[in-house]
Amino acid sequence: MSQARTLVITGVGRRIGAHLAAHYLAQGDRVIGTYRESNETITRLEAQGLIAVPCDLTVPADVSHLVANISRYVQTVDALVHNASVWFDDAVCETDAHKIHELYEVHVTAPITLTLQLQQAIPAVSTHGQAGRLVVFITDAQCLAGGSDHAHYFASKAAAESAARSLAQKLAPHTRVNTLAPGLILFYPHDDAAARSARLRHNLLPFEPGARVIAQTLDYFLSCPALDATRITVDCGYTA
Ligand SMILES: NC(=O)c1ccc[n+]([C@@H]2O[C@H](COP(=O)([O-])OP(=O)(O)OC[C@H]3O[C@@H](n4cnc5c(N)ncnc54)[C@H](OP(=O)(O)O)[C@@H]3O)[C@@H](O)[C@H]2O)c1
Repeated sequence: MSQARTLVITGVGRRIGAHLAAHYLAQGDRVIGTYRESNETITRLEAQGLIAVPCDLTVPADVSHLVANISRYVQTVDALVHNASVWFDDAVCETDAHKIHELYEVHVTAPITLTLQLQQAIPAVSTHGQAGRLVVFITDAQCLAGGSDHAHYFASKAAAESAARSLAQKLAPHTRVNTLAPGLILFYPHDDAAARSARLRHNLLPFEPGARVIAQTLDYFLSCPALDATRITVDCGYTA
C-alpha cells in the first residue's frame, strides 16, 4: 500500500461525501470529514476510522473551529475536498432570501476561507515545483450553461469555479486547485421512474453512474501531479 494520505472532506454524512470518506478509509488513508448532525452513516464511518468534526459552513466560527480541530489531529493535509452543497431551486430562493445567501456561503465563501485558513494553520509546501496539497471544488457540470429553475444554485456553483481558478493562482506552486464537475451521479430516492428516464434521455450514456465515478476522478486528481487550475466534467456525455 502507498503511504497513507490525509484528506479533509466536507459533508460526509450522506451520498457522495459518505462514499468518498469510505473509499479513502478503505485504502488506509486518514480522513477528516465534516457533518452537521451525526447520523448512522457518520457512526459507521467513525467505526472505520473517520475523524468526524461538526461544522456548519454557513457559520464562520465553525469554519475556524474546523481548522483548529484539523491542526489538533494532523500535521499535514494532502487533499481538501469541498463536497458539501445545498440544492435550492429558484422558487425556494424567491420566498426565502436567506437560501440565496446559504448557496454562496456553502459553495463559495466557506470553501475559500477554509482553503486559506488551512494554508495558514498547516502550510502546504512545494517540492521541485510539485504541489504538496490538492484542493478540489465539487461543482456541477451544468453550472456554466445554467438552467431556468436553478439560476441561484448554478450561479453559486459557477462562482465556485471562478474561486478555484483564483485560488490556483494564489496558492501555486505549493497547492493545486481544481474543479470536478458532476452531471447526474445519483438520483434521489423520491425521483420516480418517469423522471429518471426523462433525465437519462439527455445522456449519451444513459445510466446512473453512482458515487464511485467521483471517487475514480478524485483518484486521478490525486495521482496526476500536473493537474492544476483545470476542470474535469463527469456527466455521461450530457446533451441539452
Ligand atoms: N448527486 C448528484 O447527482 C450531483 C450532481 C451534480 C453535482 N453534484 C455535487 O456533488 C456533491 C455531492 O453531491 P450529493 O448529491 O452527495 O449532495 P447531498 O446529498 O446534497 O449532500 C450534501 C452534503 O453537504 C452537507 N451540507 C449542506 N449544507 C451544509 C452546511 N451549511 N454546512 C456543512 N455541510 C453542509 C450536507 O450535510 P447534511 O447531511 O447535514 O445536510 C450533506 O452531507 C455536491 O457538491 C453536489 O453539488 C452532485
